[in-house]
Amino acid sequence: MLSIKLFTVVATVAAVYANPVDQLDASCSVSSYDDIATAVSSCTTLTLTDITVPASTTLSLKLQSGTKLTMAGTWKWEYAEWDGPLLEISGSKVTVTGSSVTLDGRGAKWWDGKGDSGTKKPKFFRIKTTGGSTFSNIKLLNCPRQCVSINSASDTTIDNFDLELTAGDTEGGHNTDGFDISSSSGITIKNTVVKNQDDCIAVNQGSNMLFQNMTCSGGHGLSLSVGQSSENGSKNTVSNITFIDSTVMKSDNGIHVKTHSDAGTGAVKDVTYQNIKLSGIKKYGINIQEDYENGSSSGNPKSNIPITNLKMISVTGTMSGDSSSMPVYILCGSGGCSDWSWSTVSITNGKKSNSCNFTPSGFTC
Ligand SMILES: *[C@@H]1O[C@H](CO)[C@@H](O)[C@H](O)[C@H]1NC(C)=O
Ligand SMILES: *[C@@H]1O[C@H](CO)[C@@H](O)[C@H](O)[C@H]1NC(C)=O
Ligand SMILES: *[C@@H]1O[C@H](CO)[C@@H](O)[C@H](O)[C@H]1NC(C)=O
Ligand SMILES: *[C@@H]1O[C@H](CO)[C@@H](O)[C@H](O)[C@H]1NC(C)=O
Repeated sequence: MLSIKLFTVVATVAAVYANPVDQLDASCSVSSYDDIATAVSSCTTLTLTDITVPASTTLSLKLQSGTKLTMAGTWKWEYAEWDGPLLEISGSKVTVTGSSVTLDGRGAKWWDGKGDSGTKKPKFFRIKTTGGSTFSNIKLLNCPRQCVSINSASDTTIDNFDLELTAGDTEGGHNTDGFDISSSSGITIKNTVVKNQDDCIAVNQGSNMLFQNMTCSGGHGLSLSVGQSSENGSKNTVSNITFIDSTVMKSDNGIHVKTHSDAGTGAVKDVTYQNIKLSGIKKYGINIQEDYENGSSSGNPKSNIPITNLKMISVTGTMSGDSSSMPVYILCGSGGCSDWSWSTVSITNGKKSNSCNFTPSGFTC
C-alpha cells in the first residue's frame, strides 16, 4: 500500500513537470538574470521583469521565430568600463512589447563630456531582427553613449520609443545618438521621442526606411552620414529613405546629410524629408556637406558619394538666433549633387545668410 502511494506521488510530480503548460507558467515569466537563457530557449511567449545584468555582459536575447516578449519593470546593468552593447535582441517575426518598462542605462556613471573617447562607455541596445519584427512602448533612460544600433536588420518596425537623456545636457552626455542604422533595409521608426546630445537618427548605410512622427530635441538632427568604408559600393550607399511629419527642436541641425570624402565610392539617392518642423535650431536648419574627412568637415568637398534625388517638401520653422545660425548650407563636390527638388523650404531667424554652391530646383538660396 505504502509503495503504491509513493508511486502515485512520484507519478503525479513527474506528470506536472512533463506538462508543457505548467512548465510554461513556471519558467516563462522571469526576473532573475540566471533564468533568462532557459526561458528564451524554451518559451515563445515570455515576460522579463526587473532584470539586473552583471557587469561587462551583453544581455543577448536570441529569440525563437515568432516569439512574443514582454519587457516590464526597470532593467539595470552593473557598472563596467567596456564597449557593450548592454542589450542585444535578434530573431525573426518577433514582437517585443514594453509594459511600463524602463531600460535604465545610468549614463551619468560614465558621462565625462567626451563620448566615444575618455572613459570607455558601453553602447546600449543593438537590434538585429528580421521578417516583420516589431518593438513598441520602450523607454530608454540615460544611455552611456549611442542608444539604439540597428545593424544587420530587415523588415523591422519600432513604434513609440522614448529616449530620455535630458540629464546629459548638464551632466556630460556626448555621442548619445538616438538611432544609428547600418547594413539594414525595411526599417520603420515612428511615434518616437528622442531627447539627447547627438544625432536623433543617423543612417550610415541601407535602404527602404521610413521615419515618421519623430520628436527630436537637444541633439544634432535627422541625419544621413555616409562613407564609413574604404570599399566601393553598397557599404557606402543609402537609398530610398523618407523622414516625414516630424519635429526637431533645440538642436544643432534640423537636417544633416554628410558624406565622407576620404571613403570609397558610393551613393545617397532617393531621400525625402517631408513636413519637418524646426524650432530653436542653433547651427544649420538644413546642412548638406560632401566634405567630411577624418570625421570632420574639411571645407574641401568631393563627389565620391554623389547625392541624387534629394527632396525637401515643407521644411519650415525657426533658427535659435545664435550668432552662427544659418538656415541652409549646401556644399557639394564638383558634379556631386543632382536632381534635387525642394518646395516650401522656409526657415527664419537665422543670423547668417544661406550659403549654397549648388541650387536645388524650387529653392532660392
Ligand atoms: C506621434 O507620436 C506621439 C508619441 O511621441 C503620440 O503621442 C502621437 O499620438 C503620435 N501622433 C500620431 C498622429 O500618431
Ligand atoms: C521604399 O521604402 C519604403 C519603405 O519606407 C517601401 O515601402 C517602398 O516599397 C520602397 N520603394 C522601393 C522602390 O523599393
Ligand atoms: C574605388 O573606386 C575608385 C575610383 O572609382 C578606385 O580608384 C579605387 O581603386 C576603388 N577602390 C576599391 C577598393 O575597389
Ligand atoms: C586626414 O588624415 C590623413 C592621414 O592622417 C592626413 O594625411 C590628412 O591630411 C587628414 N586630412 C585632414 C583634412 O585633416
